[in-house]
This record gives sequence, C-alpha cells and structure tokens, in this order.
Amino acid sequence: MDPTPLKFPPAKLSQRSLEVILENQTPYGSFIASPNFPTYRYCWFRDGSFIAYVMNLVGKHESAARFHNWAATVVNERAIVVQRARAKAQRDELLTSVDYLHTRYSPDGSEVIGEEWPNFQMDGFGTWLWALGEHLTLTGKPLPRAWERAAGLVADYLTELWQHPCYDCWEEYPDKMHPHTLAAIYGGLKAHSRFTAYDHRETMQAIAAFVRKWSSTEGHFVKFIGSNMVDASLLGLATPYRLVEPDDPLMLPTVSHIEQSLAQGGGVHRYSTDSYYGGGEWVLLAGWLGWYYTEVGRYDQAKAMLEWMERQADENGRLPEQVPANLNDPNNYEPWVKRWGPSAKPLLWSHAMYLLLRHYLSL
Ligand code: BGC
Repeated sequence: MDPTPLKFPPAKLSQRSLEVILENQTPYGSFIASPNFPTYRYCWFRDGSFIAYVMNLVGKHESAARFHNWAATVVNERAIVVQRARAKAQRDELLTSVDYLHTRYSPDGSEVIGEEWPNFQMDGFGTWLWALGEHLTLTGKPLPRAWERAAGLVADYLTELWQHPCYDCWEEYPDKMHPHTLAAIYGGLKAHSRFTAYDHRETMQAIAAFVRKWSSTEGHFVKFIGSNMVDASLLGLATPYRLVEPDDPLMLPTVSHIEQSLAQGGGVHRYSTDSYYGGGEWVLLAGWLGWYYTEVGRYDQAKAMLEWMERQADENGRLPEQVPANLNDPNNYEPWVKRWGPSAKPLLWSHAMYLLLRHYLSL
C-alpha cells in the first residue's frame, strides 16, 4: 500500500484534470506539455495526440479537433521536409537534423529556435495517425481535407523511414530500433488505411514480422533491439497500437516483467536504469498500465493504479510527470532539480491518462 496521503479530493480530480488540459490549450489548438516547466512549454506530437484522444473520449470533440487542426497545419507547412526526407532515404543518403519533422513545436506551430533537441522521433507521428482514426470513430464526422493531406504526408514519411533507428518515446537511444516506436507506426498506418484509400498492408506486415523476429528475448519483448530489458512503453505494442493482442503469448510475460521490475512501488518506472530525475515513478505510466489492465479484465489492479495516481495530485489537483518515489538512481535526483527545477507539474499527458483510465473504468 502506498503511504502517500491524499492532498486533493479524488471526486474533483477529473474536473480539475479537464480544466488543466483546457486552460493549457493555446488559441492555436496546441497543448502545452507542461506550462510551468520551461523545457516543456511546447507541444509534442506524442503528448498532444494522446491528450486529443482523451478529449474525444470525454466528449470534448472541439478541443480534439483544434489540436488535430494545429498538427495538420504543422505537417502541411512542412510538405517539403517530408519530400526531401523520403527522397534522401530512397537514395540512401545520410539524413541530418534538418531533414526530419520535429517531435515538438512552439505553440504557434513554428520550430523551436536556439535549443538543441532530439527531434527525430517517429512514434509521435504514428500516434497522431492513430488518434486521427479514433477521432473519426468517436465523432463520426469525416476528416477535413487538410487533415487528410497531412495524414498522407505523415504516412508516406513513416513508410519510408520506419527502418531507420530514431530516438525513442523517452527521447533517448537514437541509434536503436524501439518496438514501441515500430508499434506506434504500425498502429498509425493501420488507422490511416481505415480512413483513406491507402493500402498499408505490406508495410504493416513487414513491421509486425520485424518486431516478432528481432524484438524479444527469453519469451518477452525488449526495450530496443539488442537489449534484454523491458520498458513500460512496451505496453503500447498491445494497448493501443494492437501490433499484438493484449493476451499475446509474448505480451503476457512482457507485462509480468514490467510488473516485477518496474511497478513494485505503486507507480510505474520507465525502465530500470532510467536516471532522469533519479528515475522515479511516472503518473502517465500508471494510467497506461491501468489501461492495459482494463483490456484484459484486471479491473481491481486498474483501480489500484487509478488510486495511486490520485495520491500523486498536489493540493491544487496538479499531477506531475514523475514522483521521486523508489528512485532507481537517487544520486541523480538533485542534479536534475538543480538543472531544470522540480519535475514538470502539471503535466497535461498525466492528467489525460488519469481521465482515460477513469473512462475505461466507467467512472
Ligand atoms: C518524455 C517524453 C515527453 C516529453 C514531454 C519527456 O521527458 O520523455 O515522452 O513527450 O517529456 O512531456
């Protein structure tokens, strides 16, 4: 049992979460990852796509649409980047940082200037296509032409580049191939073939075969090809990207490993050697594991995750990115606080995952 006492009434946390998200959606439609944390005052495709999905789940379709419109504009304005990246990849030329779509943009959709960032991350774009598919399903409204145009560009970009190593969803390990990223691309292309005339079967089959062949060891999936560790982001292979079913013979042991090595303290670590802010427990990952549990009928455990998330809210009902509990590497906590201040709070993605889990628990 987690001893952290409640600081904010759980009955009010979903309303508060909604407020935090909507207050930090800019007039452009972008969602600020975390308003009080200077390094996160931008909009990530990954965070934003999950937040938009949750806005659709809770009936805030207009908010979701405004994000998708922002994202589509960002992509359409960079059609040339996509074309150049594809052409270079086809010619086997080395791609450099100017050849990639960025992982995060300024609130108005412009590039972030003057700050180096690990920008080549493909999972967020796969997640965006997946979230567009969900938008269509949850609103029942056809997608605007401009969104379809942007989705086509993203699908072409991912189809061409999926075999390239890139930064993972934690913005690390750029020289590796990550099953989570591949699954996000797979899920994105699958969604895209549902809402357009594109046929992505060949690429999807190739990705799935590649992941099955190279991304597991000792009966479970691994963090990246060549590693034998698990990473909590592997949950994405099943939930939501469905590269495998939640009860797949490789997925079940993967989740057991995540539980044993990353989720013993109540919340969920990203991976066992994570040292970012000492490698604490992530609120959004508790929501993600809970989401997975709801898909395999483990509702009590999903509820326990939700309750753990509720105990991480501060007096103002704000959820952080991570909490410094059961740190993997305590010596690395203070140096990060000195560098960037305390862990990002509120983190919109954490609030979104809280709302998501409540939704899937029918609360
Ligand atoms: C996380 C990313 C996230 C970003 C913004 C990073 O620390 O590793 O997954 O997209 O923060 O929330």
